[in-house]
Order: sequence, then C-alpha cells, then structure tokens
Amino acid sequence: MRYLNMVRCIAVAGFLLGFAHAASAGDVEYGAYLAAECASCHRAGGDDERQIPAIAGLEEETFLTVMQAYKSKTLENIAMQTIASGLDEEQLAALAAYFASLPTE
Ligand code: HEC
Repeated sequence: MRYLNMVRCIAVAGFLLGFAHAASAGDVEYGAYLAAECASCHRAGGDDERQIPAIAGLEEETFLTVMQAYKSKTLENIAMQTIASGLDEEQLAALAAYFASLPTE
C-alpha cells in the first residue's frame, strides 16, 4: 500500500510537474511530520466556519496540482501561497502521499 503510493507519487510528480530530478518522492512518514504545520487550520473534517476545506484523503495528483497552483499564485489565498512557497518538491510529494493515505472524512 505505502509502496504503491510512493510509486504512484513518483509517476505523478514526474509526469504532471515535469520534475527533472525525481527526488525521493512521497515519504508518508516525512509527510506526517510536515503535516503538523497544516493541522492548525486543516483539522480533520475541515472547518466550515473559517472556510477551510478538508484535505484528508485528497488524491495525490489533485494535491500536487493545487499546491503548485498556490505556489505559482494561480490560486489566490495568501496563507496557502506562503505555505506552498516554503515547501520544496520532496516535501510536497511527502505531504501528498501522507494526506492521500488518510481516510476521507
Ligand atoms: C493559516 C491556515 C492554513 C494553514 C496553516 C494551511 N492551510 Fe491549506 N488552506 C487554507 C485555506 C483557508 C484554504 C482554502 C483556500 C482557498 O479558498 O483557495 C486552504 C486550502 C488548501 C488546499 C486546497 C484544498 C481544496 O480542496 O481546494 C490544500 C491542498 C491545502 N490547503 C494544503 C495545506 C497543507 C499541505 C498545509 C500544511 C503544509 C496547509 N494547507 C496549511 C488554510 C491553511
């Protein structure tokens, strides 16, 4: 399961985002560690009151596309733009693998 996620993640990252160097992509444990930064806003099940979407169970492909869109400022949200800009490709891949591994609320 984890292995498959990693394989998928490398494939998606390479194909979608054209990484020249597929770093050690999609480390779920590392993603879980990094996700501590997200939990203050993205609580399980999301937060309707503050209009924060739930991201648990999000497909890796979707996750990476959205994060790149915040990074390139195609998507407007100052908090997410700042956060995405601070994450490198390896960290994004790890987070993608981690959130995809969580059950959807
Ligand atoms: C300061 C609060 C805050 C923090 C911290 C935060 N987010 Fe967000 N995030 C938001 C808000 C608000 C949105 C919705 C923005 C919008 O409407 O475009 C969002 C949207 C997203 C989305 C898009 C979800 C969708 O369905 O469109 C993803 C993916 C995401 N965040 C990932 C993360 C990750 C990964 C982290 C940690 C590295 C993180 N966020 C940390 C507030 C936060």
